Amino acid sequence: MAQTRESWRSRSGFVIAAAGSAVGLGNIWRFPYVAGENGGGAFIVLYLAIVFTVGFSIFLAEQTIGRAAQRSPAAAFRRLKGGAWPIVGYVGVLCAVVILPFYSVVGGWTLGFIWKSAMGSASDAGSFGAFISHGWLPILFHALFMAATVAVVVAGVRNGIERWSRILLPGLVLLMIVLIFRSISLSGAEKGVSFFLSPDFSKVTMATIQAALSQAFFSISVGMGVMITYGSYISRDRSLPGDAVWVVGLDSIFAIMAGLIVLPAVFAFGENPSAGPALTFVMLPQIFSQIPGGSIFGLLFFLMLSVAALTSAISILEVAVAHLNDEHNIARRRGTIGAGLILFLVGIPASLSFGPWADLTIFGMTIFDLMDFFATKLLLPTGAIGMALFVGWVFWPDAAKSLNGNDEPPPRWSPIWRWMCALVAPILILWVMVGGF
Ligand code: PFF
Repeated sequence: MAQTRESWRSRSGFVIAAAGSAVGLGNIWRFPYVAGENGGGAFIVLYLAIVFTVGFSIFLAEQTIGRAAQRSPAAAFRRLKGGAWPIVGYVGVLCAVVILPFYSVVGGWTLGFIWKSAMGSASDAGSFGAFISHGWLPILFHALFMAATVAVVVAGVRNGIERWSRILLPGLVLLMIVLIFRSISLSGAEKGVSFFLSPDFSKVTMATIQAALSQAFFSISVGMGVMITYGSYISRDRSLPGDAVWVVGLDSIFAIMAGLIVLPAVFAFGENPSAGPALTFVMLPQIFSQIPGGSIFGLLFFLMLSVAALTSAISILEVAVAHLNDEHNIARRRGTIGAGLILFLVGIPASLSFGPWADLTIFGMTIFDLMDFFATKLLLPTGAIGMALFVGWVFWPDAAKSLNGNDEPPPRWSPIWRWMCALVAPILILWVMVGGF
């Protein structure tokens, strides 16, 4: 039964949806701290260099594979080559399926903190610890977050993903601009700005380069087939590299904007920044509670965080839904609701690992940490290496020919892209993976 594949409604459809995927928790709660710790401006320059070379190459590789095959990851490799290659697609889909449950748990925390900010209890001492270890309460918010993700994806590529990304992404920009102004106008904010931006090249070591690489891959959403899937909805006449530059560039701009929100506020209140949950859910609410009108800004901050997380979660669920559709002929509605329900259930142990199941560890990690490790340190880089090698050695030179769409000649720089995919990227990623152990 031949169905026509859905495609993006507008020319910018891919860019908006893919930028929504890229801009997420990784930009807001990780990037500012990692940059500040690793040499500030020097790290940012290094990060941008990596994103626009290796990151961009893999992004473009995924986009090309998806557009050429018009299929989700596993089916795409089968259609273009077959043999053992679909395994790379399965690795991507598995990665998506492991990431979404714990990403949704954290998404649920952001919703919980919108509610807590509205109630005025977000900044109470011990509030965050009590919330995540509560048991059913964070699971309830995880359910809400997953339900919102399902509600968008069930409506389809155009009417769900594209439409909501078009509403949420500009909303995110607005929220961020308001918060940047609030943050950098606090007295003492300049210390945070200089921690974030002043370059300190003496802090750049091998470990910094590894940190920049793994941050880059997670941040631009490559390695798990999101861009293969989103790429499969791009029409044949569209040129791909321009869109890739847009998405990668927007993601970098959002990361820098996040740094200008988080760090000035932290330094203005004489705190030392830390990464992740402690910064986002403990330090910032306390800071907001001390500034005039802070409860509103706190609420806006968590609204921003949940919007950013939602557009990323949508893209991860879409990988699973497109896979079920292409490989098992399961219709969107059934696939989305079924996958959403199962992944919600898988997230429950991850959520409980902050409370009742905190003592349950495997290889010395809690269930949440184990899922994170397995997905982001193992599956994601493996998928990325597979995709890069495929474009560099197997799908070449057709990959180049398809870049500009409509059988236009390939750009002159395409051989550089080829060797990035064939050699440079796989070697670098392997080096980071080994370092991760
Ligand atoms: N890029 C998202 C972030 O920075 O939070 C997370 C993410 C989404 C990673 C989709 C991977 C992915 F495929």
